[in-house]
Amino acid sequence: MEIIKTIGEIRAAVRKARLEGGAIGLVPTMGYLHQGHLSLISRARHANELVVVSIFVNPLQFGPKEDYASYPRDLERDSALAAEAGADIIFAPSVSEMYPDKALTQVEVALLGDWLCGRSRPGHFRGVTTVVSKLFNIVQPDKAYFGEKDAQQLAIIKQMVADLNFPVEIVPVPIVREEDGLAMSSRNVYLSAQERADALVLNRALQQTNRLFRAGERSSSKLRQEILQMIEAVPGASVDYVEICDRSTLQPIESIDTGALVAVAVRFGKTRLIDNITLAEV
Ligand code: PAJ
Repeated sequence: MEIIKTIGEIRAAVRKARLEGGAIGLVPTMGYLHQGHLSLISRARHANELVVVSIFVNPLQFGPKEDYASYPRDLERDSALAAEAGADIIFAPSVSEMYPDKALTQVEVALLGDWLCGRSRPGHFRGVTTVVSKLFNIVQPDKAYFGEKDAQQLAIIKQMVADLNFPVEIVPVPIVREEDGLAMSSRNVYLSAQERADALVLNRALQQTNRLFRAGERSSSKLRQEILQMIEAVPGASVDYVEICDRSTLQPIESIDTGALVAVAVRFGKTRLIDNITLAEV
């Protein structure tokens, strides 16, 4: 596996693979890889000749008071994990490689980024869509892999790809969880033992929603209340949002159907965690 740091070199490597006729898969990440990222890489491995994993902590998607500086970084460890999961190339550019001069262009998907996570993280999704557009233009993948863990990000990227005719197929990958149900996240390392234990309420509440849905409950506000009660019963938890919405449009829904997205964001101490579930009959 190769580690490439410049746009020129990654373009040359990808061009070579394309001339040989192989499909190219891209897995965009911010590094500090865990099993969630690795499941994206294995999916890419099974469907492409060349698998590129980008590792770039994108300053554009962090607010001024967010954790850009302290975001965990470990390229050596990431390289070993990515190689094992089947990556051929890690693309790990510096900030100055990706943003050499003050750029005047950003990519923004209207509306979808304004609420849920966008409400407490203004500008976040503009940073995501801008960097993902740049990565798509640099690597020109046939397929790109995104986790359902970040359901809003996935919906926004799908919309962007459709609206701007990016010639790439977006492949969604299910959430990978720890054995006790906590959704894997690079930010889980911030949690104290107590906060980590408290955070288990997220998956518990989402599972309970699904049980109520399967028992016939279709009222969005009742299900929402149930989740809020469960989470608010944990003293260390502070709710940012609990919403039930359409998975593609992210619009809130009142009377629920199979396929509705239940999305939550909750703070435990200084750490904000997100999780979600798609309601299903079976
Ligand atoms: P990052 O948080 O590193 O996540 C990279 C990819 O891994 C995303 O598609 C995310 O949804 C997926 N992922 C994270 N945890 C997961 C889990 N537990 N199960 C399944 N997939 C999981 O998301 C970003 O980086 C950035 O916003 C990025 C798209 C790279 C743009 O900078």
